[in-house]
Formats: sequence, structure tokens, C-alpha cells
Amino acid sequence: MGNLTGRKALVTGGARGIGAGIAQALAAAGASVMIGDILEELGKETAANLARTGIRTGFVKLDVTKDDHWENAAAATVRELGGFDILVNNAGIEITSLVVDLKAEDLRRMCDVNIVGTGLGMKHAFRAMRPGGAAGQGGAVVNVASVAATIAFPAISVYSGTKSAVDRMTRVAAMEAGKLGYGVRVNCVYPGLIATDMGIQLANDIVANGLAADMDAAVQSVIDQTPLGRLAEVPDVADVIVFLCSDDARFVTGAGLPVDGGMGM
Ligand SMILES: NC(=O)c1ccc[n+]([C@@H]2O[C@H](COP(=O)([O-])OP(=O)(O)OC[C@H]3O[C@@H](n4cnc5c(N)ncnc54)[C@H](O)[C@@H]3O)[C@@H](O)[C@H]2O)c1
Repeated sequence: MGNLTGRKALVTGGARGIGAGIAQALAAAGASVMIGDILEELGKETAANLARTGIRTGFVKLDVTKDDHWENAAAATVRELGGFDILVNNAGIEITSLVVDLKAEDLRRMCDVNIVGTGLGMKHAFRAMRPGGAAGQGGAVVNVASVAATIAFPAISVYSGTKSAVDRMTRVAAMEAGKLGYGVRVNCVYPGLIATDMGIQLANDIVANGLAADMDAAVQSVIDQTPLGRLAEVPDVADVIVFLCSDDARFVTGAGLPVDGGMGM
């Protein structure tokens, strides 16, 4: 299951958290992996750790909101890994706020990273992967949405909106890539809450906004809403992404897969 031998992947936001776990899982399945992130030092460290497992890897500075960074990241992936056939659009940000306290600059920033970043990623992946592109072998794109795209959770209204946008963009991109013969499948996942830097910050913000008595109560309320009775963990998501990138999912495109222990059912 999930054999990615010979595949060449770029993971955005791969320096830490879920992205670093995805990079590790892709590598364990046999892929070469490029890490793209704004965090240069940590990104290089994560890539160096991967290299110690014997796989081909590298780091490229990538701010997903910038078209020219994407141009460079796609070219660097092809140059350094010898191709480009997997993109995981994982980079994302969440700025917690009740609707009554929303700040325009925070909303724009979330739209920029989560929506513009994902859109530009698909653009440059398609250009590189489609026939005649710099890599030209087709491939697979996985966008990291969130359970927030499928349920109503307080204090993350705009974040949830950006992840719903990622969900819709996935479908349209999959349609175009299929109909236009790019040989690229496009899917997304909706992870549940994971205790990464982002997840822990969200739980703290829930408390700060008066929506839970303390951190334990905030986490417990999520667990109570989850039929499988625990938070998500990074490998839960990474393993599903390996599957979606592999030939086991060769007839799967335009799909959104919950990885949330049933929270969004
Ligand atoms: N943690 C959760 O509970 C959870 C749940 C569902 C979905 N997600 C989604 O999973 C993805 C990863 O989340 P995480 O929990 O690992 O978060 P995280 O904050 O721990 O890591 C995010 C990574 O993205 C990078 N990043 C941020 N802005 C960037 C930009 N403009 N360009 C390039 N890289 C950028 C960061 O530097 C960091 O390395 C995000 O899209 C997030 O929305 C997270």
C-alpha cells in the first residue's frame, strides 16, 4: 500500500507540524521530498533530518502567497529532485476571533495564505506536471483543508471559510485537470484538531475567548464531539495523504476525505 518509489514531492509548510509529518511519511513510502516554507532555519533542519534516512531531499524558501516564490519552488523541485509529481498544499494559518472582534488585516492574511497560496500552488504544479511541462509526467495534488470546512466551530469563522474555499477549489481544479488531460489528480483532506503549534494555539484562544473554562475543557469538548474519542495525530493525516498520492488512489480525484475520527459526519 502507498508505494511512492521514484516520486518527487513538494510539501508546503513542511518545516514543522503536520507538514513535517507528511514529508516524513512520503519519504518513508519512497518519495524524494522538497520542503517549502517561510521558516528557513527550521525547514533546512527538517530536510537535513529527512536526508539522514537516505532519501533525496532539499529545502526551498517559499512564501505560498507569492507567485514568483512558487515559480522558483517548482523549478527548484524539478532541478534538485529530477522531477515534480506530488504537491501537498499544506501551508496554512489560523487567527482565532469571535465575529464581533474580527480584524480586516487578519481576514486578508488568512485568505492570502490559505486561499491564494493553495491556488498558486495548483497553478504551478499543473504547469510543471502536465504534458510538455518542466516535469511533464502528471501527478497528484493534495490540499489540506480542515474539519472546519465541514462543521461550525466557534471563533474560527473566517478560517473555516478559507478551508471551505480550499474544498471548492479542489473540485474545480480536479475537473480542469481531468478534462484538459493534465494527468494530475487533485484531492483534499479535512483533518480534525491536532496538537501542533496551530492546534495548541487554537485551544488556548478558545479559552481566552471565554468558550471553555481551561485548556483541558477545550480539548475535551473536541474529543466529546469525536466518535472515535480522541484528537487527531499527525500520522493519521500523513498516511491518508500518502494513499491519495499513490497509485492505490489512481481513480480518485476531486474527493475530500475527512480524517477527523468522525467529528464532521
Ligand atoms: N493543527 C490542526 O488542528 C489542524 C486541523 C485541520 C487542518 N489543519 C491545517 O493543516 C495545515 C498545517 O497545520 P499545522 O497544524 O501543522 O500548523 P503549524 O502552524 O504548526 O505549521 C504550519 C506551517 O506552515 C508554514 N507557513 C505559514 N505560512 C506560510 C506561508 N505563507 N508560506 C509558506 N509556509 C507557511 C509555517 O511556517 C509552518 O511551518 C494547515 O493548513 C492547517 O490549516 C490543521
